[in-house]
Amino acid sequence: MQRSDLRADLGLVLRPLSAADAGRYHRVVQANRAHLTQFGNYEEEVAGTERDFAEGFATPGHRYGIWRGGELIGRIDLVAVDPPRYGFGFWLAAHATGCGYATAAGAALLAHARDELGASDVYAGVTHGNDRSVAVLRRLGFQPIVDFDDYTRFHRPLAGV
Ligand SMILES: CC(C)(COP(=O)(O)OP(=O)(O)OC[C@H]1O[C@@H](n2cnc3c(N)ncnc32)[C@H](O)[C@@H]1OP(=O)(O)O)[C@@H](O)C(=O)NCCC(=O)NCCS
Repeated sequence: MQRSDLRADLGLVLRPLSAADAGRYHRVVQANRAHLTQFGNYEEEVAGTERDFAEGFATPGHRYGIWRGGELIGRIDLVAVDPPRYGFGFWLAAHATGCGYATAAGAALLAHARDELGASDVYAGVTHGNDRSVAVLRRLGFQPIVDFDDYTRFHRPLAGV
């Protein structure tokens, strides 16, 4: 466990994604193409090459691999859209769903956002029909604030919580 890793419940570790993870990350994305694109999202992710990911992960950001034991089972991000306001995104490999891992990873990253980054607000957009993602956000204390044609924007205040 490195200093910048975050521990989450259920034995998970969130580890900053680095260029060294690109090959493994690419393989997990490719193995989950249909799962990731089922609501029309992540098209760019499944088109990404190992080299694209190596270059992307080498730039500054708050991107974490979700690790269970020695296995990369997903990804969770804070996006510095307008600090102290951040965007939030996450996915799990299909075989790792149904165990509470996204909620556990999300709780750890929100605590980090509040305590270490001084985040005041976190926002997430969910495509209509993605009920499992909505359930994760609701368990994490997000509320819907705006409905657009394709998606709903959710908000979680962190300041003073
Ligand atoms: C969205 C996504 C991460 C949700 O995954 P998920 O497994 O449903 O969410 P969690 O990991 O929080 O697990 C919750 C489930 O685990 C169950 N669970 C089992 N053991 C648990 C435990 N110890 N603690 C908590 N929940 C547990 C819960 O009951 C719940 O199951 P249910 O939905 O049947 O009630 C996943 O569907 C996904 O990767 N989708 C594709 C990508 C995507 O859409 N990302 C979001 C974009 S906004």
